[in-house]
Amino acid sequence: MAGHDDNIVWHSHPVTRTDREALHGHQGAVVWFTGLSGSGKSTVAGALEQALHQRGISTWLLDGDNVRHGLCRDLGFSDADRKENIRRVGEVAKLMTEAGLLVLTAFISPHRAERDMVRQMVGAGRFFEVFIDTPLAVCEARDPKGLYKKARAGALPNFTGIDGVYEAPDAPELRLEGEQLVTILVPQLLDLLRENRIIPS
Ligand code: ADX
Repeated sequence: MAGHDDNIVWHSHPVTRTDREALHGHQGAVVWFTGLSGSGKSTVAGALEQALHQRGISTWLLDGDNVRHGLCRDLGFSDADRKENIRRVGEVAKLMTEAGLLVLTAFISPHRAERDMVRQMVGAGRFFEVFIDTPLAVCEARDPKGLYKKARAGALPNFTGIDGVYEAPDAPELRLEGEQLVTILVPQLLDLLRENRIIPS
């Protein structure tokens, strides 16, 4: 049976998130990158992770292209499958924050409702939605995997930005100009995390 079962009871364990965070020397949190395919999510997330790692921060990067080879390999790109993709990733990201990690995620996550669901799951003050705002024309010109070309040819149904929706965030914690260099964008992300006391100044 799918879903909640009255016979399953939550067990609290003695080592807490606070204990784990003390061990890491920083808080657990999620930096949730959202944007079109080819907008730069994975590249910016990777560069941020490298900068954090160099500063002694314990991180993990969850990336759509990788997660869809394992945890979410059974899912496609229908609206229902995308929702389940984001739900699973949200649950994993939440567990990792409880382990005291600073989790970076790179998923298109086209629907506002799903991003808000993860925000609720992870909790206020620990979820940072970052919109990589890159015009569709730029993403399409980059077309790193040749998928826009396929989508335009009608070979990839429900492709985000072509015949699939993308709902841009109304009030992200940070909006990044996706056409700027990664070296310009990473310091803005580090500032956000310092200002919110997720990482030390
Ligand atoms: S999400 O919509 O469920 O958040 P996710 O980030 O995991 O998507 O995966 C997106 C990646 O899958 C894209 O970068 C692209 O490489 C590939 N992809 C394959 N089919 C599609 C599609 N129909 N729409 C968008 N991306 C697709």
